Amino acid sequence: MKTIIRNGVVVDSEGSVRADLLIEDGKISAIGSHIEEMDAEVIDAGGKLILPGPIDVHTHFDLQAGPLRAVDDFYQGTLAAACGGTTTIVDHMAFGPKDCPVGHQLKEYHRLADGNAVLDYGFHGVLQHVDKKVLEDMENLILSGIPSFKAYMTYDFRLPDDEILRVMQSVKKTGGVLTVHAENHQVIGHLRKKFVEEGKTGAIYHAKSRPAHTEAEAVGRLIHLSAMADYPNLYLVHISTKESLMEIRKARQNGAKNVYVETCTQYLTLTEDKYLLPEHEGLKYVMSPPLRTQEDCDALWEAIGEGLVSVVGTDHCPFFFEDKVKYGADDFTHCPNGGPGVEERVRLLFSEGVMKKRITLQKFVEVSSLNPARIMGLYPKKGTLRPGSDADLILMDTKKTGVFHQEHLHGNAGYSLYEGYAYTGEIGLVMQRGKVIVKDGKFLGNRGDGEFMSRDIPELESK
Ligand code: URP
Ligand code: ZN
Repeated sequence: MKTIIRNGVVVDSEGSVRADLLIEDGKISAIGSHIEEMDAEVIDAGGKLILPGPIDVHTHFDLQAGPLRAVDDFYQGTLAAACGGTTTIVDHMAFGPKDCPVGHQLKEYHRLADGNAVLDYGFHGVLQHVDKKVLEDMENLILSGIPSFKAYMTYDFRLPDDEILRVMQSVKKTGGVLTVHAENHQVIGHLRKKFVEEGKTGAIYHAKSRPAHTEAEAVGRLIHLSAMADYPNLYLVHISTKESLMEIRKARQNGAKNVYVETCTQYLTLTEDKYLLPEHEGLKYVMSPPLRTQEDCDALWEAIGEGLVSVVGTDHCPFFFEDKVKYGADDFTHCPNGGPGVEERVRLLFSEGVMKKRITLQKFVEVSSLNPARIMGLYPKKGTLRPGSDADLILMDTKKTGVFHQEHLHGNAGYSLYEGYAYTGEIGLVMQRGKVIVKDGKFLGNRGDGEFMSRDIPELESK
């Protein structure tokens, strides 16, 4: 099966070139000025940009969180992702039962995703306690297709600093990646209790109980721990504040290596005034870390430009508004944490980043596709349009504009955090391994089309 995409501008992290793209058996086989193949199907790109398939390495599909379950499963979640121009996801597993072995959740996640995902997918392992067996199991999994694991510094199954250090030492040996949710649990706990005692129970106190320094302090602590473990690959998820960026910048200047930074679309585009919306609307935005200030958004955009932030994900973790209200209306501390966003990411990042000239087209490719692929062991199969790579790509029409409205989106939450948000740049087509799975907003794929990706140990340059 051969396909030629003509009349497009092929974009990668080095530059852009008007060229034809030849796809054979699901892989890119050539890029050239005029490719002739008698038996190929031809797609006319009509002058649109041909971008490497965007990858979201921070989703939570079908996540069990206390009494509730995130409302997008692997089918609906990946379908929404596909319609928004994402071609691959790597999902963060939920915590399992107390003291369960590391492999427990892997088995559970295969049960949830296999045969359901419409996009290629992988899993980050999750750590919820540490002992010799956990470390051995983690090392084995790192060597056999799950090269990244997540530890939390907050929530019930958070790891204390000594356990994080042990994990880092172990990850250093294998070359895997430790991803960490960095927040100072004790201080946040103190502030939450204090606000509730004072009757300050509205959504805004979710943000006020998690001030910027609770993230930045945890980030600084982690970087010191990582120095003690001789700088294993450390990936900081959903960084949201200017103060954290200052910690990371300072650490890098002082010789810290292998620190990779992710932010998410909501921290680039939305601010904490959302928590003040009437009719409990603010609860839709309760997520951890919380939304911040415009200054933080600006600092994050700048940090992308500077190369300090390498990845933009979503932390997609939606709950029904009625459950947010049921649990959180009287007390923000009981509101389920997380929101939808997997379908809006690519257009938001393109529109707010490239079209508004905050970042270059090449940066867009880096943070949406190339870097997540490199850091998470998917490169060069994913993250690039070079010959031999999977033909995962999108066509982006920079002349088209749109407005996010819930009724055009495909997730189950029933609302968008970006309702009414205007964007420039529409996705005309989404291709996964040579097959068109979305055309002009219509999903053409099938449940179960996605393949589980056994990922490699990433080959990362120290920086
Ligand atoms: O509030 C959020 N982000 N919920 C999902 C779990 C996590 O913290 O990543
Ligand atoms: Zn998350």
